Amino acid sequence: MDTGTVRIFAIFLAVVLPSFAEILTDQPDCQDFKSCNSCLSKGSCVWCVNKAICTTDSCGNDNIIYPSHIRALMAGSQFCPRVVTPENKLIVQSGKEERIVVRITQIYMYMAFTPWKCRISQDGKETIINATLVADEVFCEPVVLYSYSRPYADAGVSVLWEHSKAFDGALPLIICRCDMDPNCPACKKQL
Ligand SMILES: *[C@@H]1O[C@H](CO)[C@@H](O)[C@H](O)[C@H]1NC(C)=O
Repeated sequence: MDTGTVRIFAIFLAVVLPSFAEILTDQPDCQDFKSCNSCLSKGSCVWCVNKAICTTDSCGNDNIIYPSHIRALMAGSQFCPRVVTPENKLIVQSGKEERIVVRITQIYMYMAFTPWKCRISQDGKETIINATLVADEVFCEPVVLYSYSRPYADAGVSVLWEHSKAFDGALPLIICRCDMDPNCPACKKQL
């Protein structure tokens, strides 16, 4: 190639392959996404794993997850730290102490030795309890949950590392009142 061809080729590359940072600069609202999955679904934001933030910028020396259309070692929401949703919903008894276990995936070494928490959401209220990570399972401290006026109440359990950094997703949970519905599977277990 002569210099003219090289120059044209260089211009061609600059037009066709703008740097990733340039693609991202006119997307100011990445920081509004609080989960890895929602962050990547924007298509133009990246998720910094250790900082647990969505950003347009690079993540410094943090692990970075790109949207799936970017060619990178970690691209796509399958790399997001997240709760593994079980096939069957967990059902517990109202008023009885339970030890809830949440399975998670995409755990990084630096997360392991930080304080873990379970965050239980029910009727728009959140309760945070201490937890322990063992392999890929988060064991929440024993907790008593209640369904107040109905036979069933829905709740969700999400997982936090380093006090407040959330894994994506939540374990769905049903709390049953055995006095109102003795046929609830969690009540039958006791017979
Ligand atoms: C949770 O853990 C912290 C320290 O890791 C401790 O100070 C606190 O008392 C614990 N809370 C409960 C309710 O066990």
